[in-house]
Amino acid sequence: MAKPATDVKTMEAIVSLAKRRGFVHPSAELYGGLGGFYDFGPLGVQLKRNLEALWWKVFVEERDDVYGIESSIIAPPAVFAASGHLAHFTDPMVECKVCNERIRADKEDDIKEHKHQDFTEVKQFNTMFKTFAGPVEEDANVAYLRPETAQGMFTNYMNVMDSMRAKVPFGIAQIGKSFRNEITYRNFIFRVREFDIAELEYFVKPGEDEKAFDDWLVFMENALIERFGLKKENLKRYETPKDELAHYSKRTVDIHYKFPWGWDELWGLANRTDYDLKRHMEASGKNFMYRDPKTNEEYLPYVIEPTGGIGRLFLAVMLESYRMIEGGRTKTTEATKDEELVLQFPKHLAPIQIAILPLSKKEELAGPAKELQTKLQKHWTTSYDETASIGRRYRRQDEAGTPYCVTVDFDTLTDSQVTVRDRDTMEQERIPIDDLIHYFTEKFS
Ligand code: GAP
Repeated sequence: MAKPATDVKTMEAIVSLAKRRGFVHPSAELYGGLGGFYDFGPLGVQLKRNLEALWWKVFVEERDDVYGIESSIIAPPAVFAASGHLAHFTDPMVECKVCNERIRADKEDDIKEHKHQDFTEVKQFNTMFKTFAGPVEEDANVAYLRPETAQGMFTNYMNVMDSMRAKVPFGIAQIGKSFRNEITYRNFIFRVREFDIAELEYFVKPGEDEKAFDDWLVFMENALIERFGLKKENLKRYETPKDELAHYSKRTVDIHYKFPWGWDELWGLANRTDYDLKRHMEASGKNFMYRDPKTNEEYLPYVIEPTGGIGRLFLAVMLESYRMIEGGRTKTTEATKDEELVLQFPKHLAPIQIAILPLSKKEELAGPAKELQTKLQKHWTTSYDETASIGRRYRRQDEAGTPYCVTVDFDTLTDSQVTVRDRDTMEQERIPIDDLIHYFTEKFS
C-alpha cells in the first residue's frame, strides 16, 4: 500500500515539474520568451487535448440541444463594434512614474506590491490584439484577434438555426484560441495573453433565462467534480457584484477554484440577455427574431453562457493530482530519495495511460514489448521505455502521471503473461497478454 500522499501544492513545484516533464514552458524561451505566452510540450498537449475532448463530450456530444462549431480567430472590426468590445473591452491601467511599468489599476495586490508607489492617472486600455488582414497596413485592412470565442457563435446563430433546424432552447459551442493583451500576466498559465476557451451560448426564451442559468450552474459544477475529477471543497461560487459585471451581463456567477494563491476564477456563467443578438441584428440589418413554431410567438432569445478557460482547468487538474510523498514510497535500493512525486491524474485524463517497460533492452524482450505496445496503442495512449532500472522507470512514469505500467520480463516468453503495476497502490498483478485489452477496458471504464 502507498503511504498517504502529502498535499504539497506549491506553484514553484508545479511550474518546475511542468517544464522538466514536458507539460508547459514559456514560449520562445530560446530568445528570452514573450511575456504571457506558453507552449505545451508532449505530455501537456496530450493532457490539454484530453480535457478539451472531455469538455466537448460532456457539453456537446452528450446533449441533443447543443451544436458545435469552429469559427475564425480573426474578425473584422464590425463584429467587435457591434459586440461592444471596441468600446468596452478595457482594463484600467496606471503607469509607474519611476520605472514606467504598466499595472492593472483594479488589482490591489499588484499595486501594493509595486516597488515604487508613484503612479500616473488611471487610463482605460483596450486589451484586444489588432492586426491587418491583407498586405497593406491601412485602416481598411484592420482586423482583430478575438478576445472570446462567443462572437463566433452569435455571428453563426442564423447559419446553425437554418442548417440544423434548431429550435429554442438550443446552444452553440466551440473551443478555441482567444487573445487578450493583458497588462499584467501572472500565476503561470492562469492569466496569459493567448489561451483556449471552451464556451457555449445557450439561446432561451426571455423569462426562461433565470431557470436556465441555475440549471447550467449546477451542470458546470457537476462536470468539474464528476467528469474532471476536481474536489468539491476546492470549488465555490462567486456572485459578481453588479458594478463589476461585463458590459453585456445581467448576472455572472464565477466558479472559483482554491488555487495556491487563494480562491480565483476557474470558469464563469453569464446571463448575456439579448444584448449580443440585438446588437448584431441592429448592426447587420439581418432579422434575428425567433418565431416559435408551436405558438407562433416572436421574440429575440436570451443567452446563457457557460464559459471556461482550458488553461485554468489544466492548472487545477495538475494541482489536484500533485502528490509529493515524503520519505518516498518505492522499496528498491535506489529509493533513498527524501521525497517522491506522483501525479495522480484521473485515469481517463492522464497523458500517458499505459507505459510498456521491457525488463531488458535485448531483442527477445524488446520485440514482444513493442508488439504489445502496437496492440495497446490502438485503444489507449502509451509510452515505451527500455532505459534505466525498472524502479527508476516506474518513478518516471509516476511523475508523468501514468496510471499503469506493463512489464515484459523473461517469464513472459514462457507463460505469455506480463506484470501490470498500478500507479496509486503500487500493487503488481500478473495478467495474461490475451486478457490485457479486456483488463484495461475495465480499468479505464
Ligand atoms: N465569453 C465570456 C468570457 O470570455 P471571461 O470570464 O472574460 O468570459 C472566460 O473569460 C474564461 O476564460 C474565464 O473563466 C477564464 O477561465 C478564462 N480566461 C479569461 N482570461 C484569461 C487569461 N488572460 N488567461 C487565461 N485564461 C483566461
